[in-house]
Amino acid sequence: MDPYKYRPSSAHDSSFWTTNSGAPVWNNNSSLTVGTRGPILLEDYHMVEKIANFDRERIPERVVHARGASAKGFFEVTHDISQLTCADFLRAPGVQTPVIVRFSTVIHERGSPETLRDPRGFAVKFYTREGNFDLVGNNFPVFFVRDGMKFPDMVHALKPNPKSHIQENWRIVDFFSHHPESLHMFSFLFDDVGVPQDYRHMEGFGVNTYTLINKSGKAHYVKFHWKPTCGVKCLLEEEAIRVGGSNHSHATKDLYDSIAAGNYPEWKLYIQVIDPDHEDRFDFDPLDVTKIWPEDILPLQPVGRLVLNKNIDNFFAENEQLAFCPAIVVPGIYYSDDKLLQTRIFSYADTQRHRLGPNYLQLPVNAPKCAHHNNHHEGFMNFMHRDEEVNYFPSRFDPVRHAERFPIPPAVLNGKREKCIIEKENNFKQPGERFRSWAPDRQERFIGRWVEALSDPRVTHELRAIWISYWTQADKSLGQKLASRLNVRPSM
Ligand code: HEM
Repeated sequence: MDPYKYRPSSAHDSSFWTTNSGAPVWNNNSSLTVGTRGPILLEDYHMVEKIANFDRERIPERVVHARGASAKGFFEVTHDISQLTCADFLRAPGVQTPVIVRFSTVIHERGSPETLRDPRGFAVKFYTREGNFDLVGNNFPVFFVRDGMKFPDMVHALKPNPKSHIQENWRIVDFFSHHPESLHMFSFLFDDVGVPQDYRHMEGFGVNTYTLINKSGKAHYVKFHWKPTCGVKCLLEEEAIRVGGSNHSHATKDLYDSIAAGNYPEWKLYIQVIDPDHEDRFDFDPLDVTKIWPEDILPLQPVGRLVLNKNIDNFFAENEQLAFCPAIVVPGIYYSDDKLLQTRIFSYADTQRHRLGPNYLQLPVNAPKCAHHNNHHEGFMNFMHRDEEVNYFPSRFDPVRHAERFPIPPAVLNGKREKCIIEKENNFKQPGERFRSWAPDRQERFIGRWVEALSDPRVTHELRAIWISYWTQADKSLGQKLASRLNVRPSM
């Protein structure tokens, strides 16, 4: 064995017990004491190391999406979209790329039940030949707010009350009463899909608008959609209580067991595409994350399939240390000016430098699988082996050069500095259309959930009236039903 090639790994396990530095441990049962009863000697290095390691086992949980499960597999291109993008991993049908996927709930803690009404995260890391691409999405196609400035307040309102540590409806309906753009997202959250049966039976969406760019530099806006081949299934209230009451990790278990049994979860990837030259043709802003792009005018185009066929080996290394970031894209895929996405570009790497440390991208699950090189070096817990003498750029001694130039969106940007909301808000049309598309029993369940939320004793008459007015603007009959059930006279 070359002692200097050694990497910490259970593949190098010794057949006997050792300290972290490899010294033999002849007794892992009893502390070193003076006599048989104690006291314990501080010089018992193994005992001190063992307890100190244990004391530091937990790292901060994610500030949102703390509860999650991950699995590995591959993405395979099934349809040629090389006319839209020069992304290497999308170059031709049949091309496969290894992936790791993490599903999650959003609001509650790392050990919380997986049956709560909450959006679900659907984050996919593609380990491509041109670096990692993270498609960090959710199971609903839209989002609560359209400006990242509001995200911390939104999360605070949805998280438990800082005094009681209990999630409370009055705080939620209070915050969102200032944000009618959230109605569309609530038309998903308070719908039956608000509690997915498990992670296999839910859709996924990139949610934000991204840009695809082809070799000649032509850009298209794109939305990504994942459709599960086993269909979408949800848990209604009674069922959720029963499932959650017997196993608070039912979705993690379902994912793990399905893969172990060879029943591999699969999703088809579709895209919707808009030519940026046509972005003004709609009665909504295509970069507004509170809007869907209607499928009758912007049809779904098939792209590929995602298959999860391998369970993770270690939850900590491949779930807790797994770090996604919407800023991580590859040539051929770019961001859009969607304000929420722009904030996300900053937030994820920032939180991960805090949660996992400045060298989190060196962790095996996060590191690219392709060759990579730059002079960002050192810092806490840096375990990259380096032996070069030139750590600056440019240099006549270092043969590594710039990569070949790849296209980025060609649009010319101009405008004055502003802090404002977008012009085409159109907050009520799409949630109203969604409500009207449901069968009467589904509408009734939706109304029942709103009646319950607005019946919280701390929800004031003013708040109830605001929500009834919002839902009336989305759908008159919905507003009327809420008003009569809550005994409030509609103001419009
Ligand atoms: C400006 C708005 C947003 C901000 C500032 C934000 C911020 C964050 C932060 C700080 C995390 C924790 C990351 C970590 O510790 O590793 C996170 C996780 C996550 N966010 Fe967001 N988020 C935003 C909007 C969204 C939207 C719109 C989506 C859906 C498209 C989304 C999906 C996710 C997912 C899936 C995760 C979990 C990733 C994982 O499994 O590790 N977020 N977000």
